[in-house]
Amino acid sequence: MGYGKGETIRVGIIGCGGIANGKHIPGIQAIEGVEIVALCDIIVEKAEKAKERHGLTNAKIYQDYKELLKDESIDDVQICTPNRSHSFITIDALEAGKNVMVEKPMAINAVEAKKMLDTAKRTGKALTVAYQNRQKPEMRYLRDEVAAGTFGDIYYAQATAIRRRGVPTWGVFMNEYEQGGGPLIDICTHSLDVTLWVIDNYKPKVCFGKTFHKLSQLPSELQGNSWGGWDPEKFTVEDSAFGMCLMEDGTLIRLETSWALNTTHNVPEGRTTICGTLAGADCVESDLRINGIRDGRPYVETITCKPSRGAAYFDGVGDEDIKIREQRVWYNYLRGEGELFVKPEQAYVVSQILEGIYESDRTGKEVILG
Ligand SMILES: NC(=O)c1ccc[n+]([C@@H]2O[C@H](COP(=O)([O-])OP(=O)(O)OC[C@H]3O[C@@H](n4cnc5c(N)ncnc54)[C@H](O)[C@@H]3O)[C@@H](O)[C@H]2O)c1
Repeated sequence: MGYGKGETIRVGIIGCGGIANGKHIPGIQAIEGVEIVALCDIIVEKAEKAKERHGLTNAKIYQDYKELLKDESIDDVQICTPNRSHSFITIDALEAGKNVMVEKPMAINAVEAKKMLDTAKRTGKALTVAYQNRQKPEMRYLRDEVAAGTFGDIYYAQATAIRRRGVPTWGVFMNEYEQGGGPLIDICTHSLDVTLWVIDNYKPKVCFGKTFHKLSQLPSELQGNSWGGWDPEKFTVEDSAFGMCLMEDGTLIRLETSWALNTTHNVPEGRTTICGTLAGADCVESDLRINGIRDGRPYVETITCKPSRGAAYFDGVGDEDIKIREQRVWYNYLRGEGELFVKPEQAYVVSQILEGIYESDRTGKEVILG
């Protein structure tokens, strides 16, 4: 992308809420040669607060992202706004000559995601989607093992993200218009992304699914949510969704997700389960388990991917924080080193499948994707 080794890459952050403060800004600050020079939020105090919190003394503050995009010295923007605005801000930024990292999901639906993809191709600017779970050591290890043939023919996978009670009650997460959906587009998007990436299969054929607005309608005494209660009238997205996607090569992927479900089976987002003819794999906390049959007996191997706790307790290879790694691989790519890690074409397929499940729920029929 034409940056010299010693050249500073100048970055603008659009949307200064939870993910910008918790992931993007500290991630970028750890990368040498990259500087956050602008912060934008429609609630300008949030941009001011982020500037102060992260010591970004030279950053300019904007309320309107279009004004930020006029600054020709800005090379790259990171878009951390709610889902609905991912597409139009990305498109405007690419047209303004910026490279873009946009938060997940890529867009509110597949049509918008396709527009983003087409704009990136036409403008020649780089576009990536912030699916940081791919950076986890266990996911990278698993992908390498799949590529090495450890699992044989993989014909079934599960993309699961289930919270017993974990409804994000801040911001606009429960608002259908702003977000395009609930846990399916919010957290299952991570699990589906890592599943497709690990098995390297981006050809969906048909999908079917059902969403539910059940626990979202419960009165406050039955909510018991980890992030506080909600107003059922304002909870316009689904609380749970379940579906299947059949891929062109016959692989079946099951999707299961919820922000609130009467279950004891919590499964954090950004994990996968895969089943092949020679072996299978799933994730437990930050470890990866590989199962199979050896010498006629079932085995389970645990691949430890927990971060190292230092020399005194050394129990394996440490790994870079995923929020830093996400930024490192992105800026390395912009400097001409390595491949684009999360390709927009891949994120677009995630959007297609998620939308297929929503569409199937609306029509009660299967949705043909390929
Ligand atoms: N990768 C992850 O694991 C992860 C985790 C949480 C959130 N996210 C994604 O990040 C995005 C934001 O989530 P959040 O938790 O930070 O929400 P948030 O509500 O905390 O922050 C969003 C911010 O964007 C601002 N904003 C809204 N519209 C804007 C616009 N047009 N221009 C400039 N600023 C605007 C809001 O005022 C708010 O400060 C969502 O798309 C969400 O899916 C990703």
